[in-house]
Amino acid sequence: MENNIIITGATGYIGGHVALKFKQEGYRVIGIDRTVTIPAAVEYLDEFLCTDYADIVDTCAALNNSTAIIHCAGTSLVGPSLTDPGEYYNNNTAKTNKMLNWLARKGWCGSIIFSSSAAIYGNNPASPLPESAAWKVLPMNPYGWSKLLTEQILQDHCTAHGFRGIALRYFNAAGCDPQGRLGCVKDGTHLITKIANAALSGTELIINGNDYRTRDGTCIRDYIHVTDLADAHYRAVKHAEESMREHAFVSFNVGTGIGLSNKEVLDQFEFSSETNITWRYGPRREGDPDILVSDPSHFKITTGWEARHSDIDSLSITTFDWMKKTYYNV
Ligand code: UFG
Repeated sequence: MENNIIITGATGYIGGHVALKFKQEGYRVIGIDRTVTIPAAVEYLDEFLCTDYADIVDTCAALNNSTAIIHCAGTSLVGPSLTDPGEYYNNNTAKTNKMLNWLARKGWCGSIIFSSSAAIYGNNPASPLPESAAWKVLPMNPYGWSKLLTEQILQDHCTAHGFRGIALRYFNAAGCDPQGRLGCVKDGTHLITKIANAALSGTELIINGNDYRTRDGTCIRDYIHVTDLADAHYRAVKHAEESMREHAFVSFNVGTGIGLSNKEVLDQFEFSSETNITWRYGPRREGDPDILVSDPSHFKITTGWEARHSDIDSLSITTFDWMKKTYYNV
């Protein structure tokens, strides 16, 4: 069998970096996406199917020669999930169920690596968070619920149909390819992208709230470089194929275990990029938990994975350089 890998959401920020990683590892990469989010990502796909991932079984002939699917497609913002929950339950949860049903009916039986999220943990008092904390406190927003429900759906399909399933619970993905081949979208809403935009355009950055129960009042997050995240997918595929039985399912945290507050991220970015950013505190953003920091030890011990690029200097500079070059021509 050819070394095929199927990636849904393959032109997105995370899917694109995952495609690049598998390409580097010698795989034939088949990407599925309903739109092209990061045009540079298409370069790392051997085959690109511009379609909705729920239609994968109809459109993807390569399925027969593929033993693994990396399922990155989905909608991923906390705020919009509060105003349009239907989109999140449809795009993230219902369509995944549809895809899994079709895979089962077709008799496909391989490994599925699912993009889950730290948003499933809600405002959990445990810090750092072990994987088991997911079932003790509930998600705070429809986005988190859509991912938690999908984990359960995937587990049930694995049990019933013999898939091997891994849910990777991403903490805060950030940074851009250190070699400048891929990166984030210009108008991204995530903190480090917004800081880089503020630095380059001179617009004011708003830090959402300074009355959280944290050391400086701003939210604390665990930032994971997207290149480390891409490597985590590679390790997960290897683990599923080499060490997991059919019908097995497991969830892993993918983070560094280190928390930085929003204000600390801003200060460190200014220091690393030698910029001065105009900023102020604004009101809280609805749906934001105070602290989300992973306990990544289960994934590290199981797969040998280590974060290598996730220090704040590398997160800041790779984002700053990508945005300068790609969107500001400086
Ligand atoms: N923030 C600001 N100002 C901004 C942008 C963000 O203060 O301009 C704050 C947010 O309010 C939050 C923190 O920066 O306190 C991080 O926000 P992001 O939007 O960068 O990321 P989130 O924590 O909301 O969510 C991300 C992913 C989710 C994932 C979560 C896991 O979007 O998919 O990380 O921690 F679930």
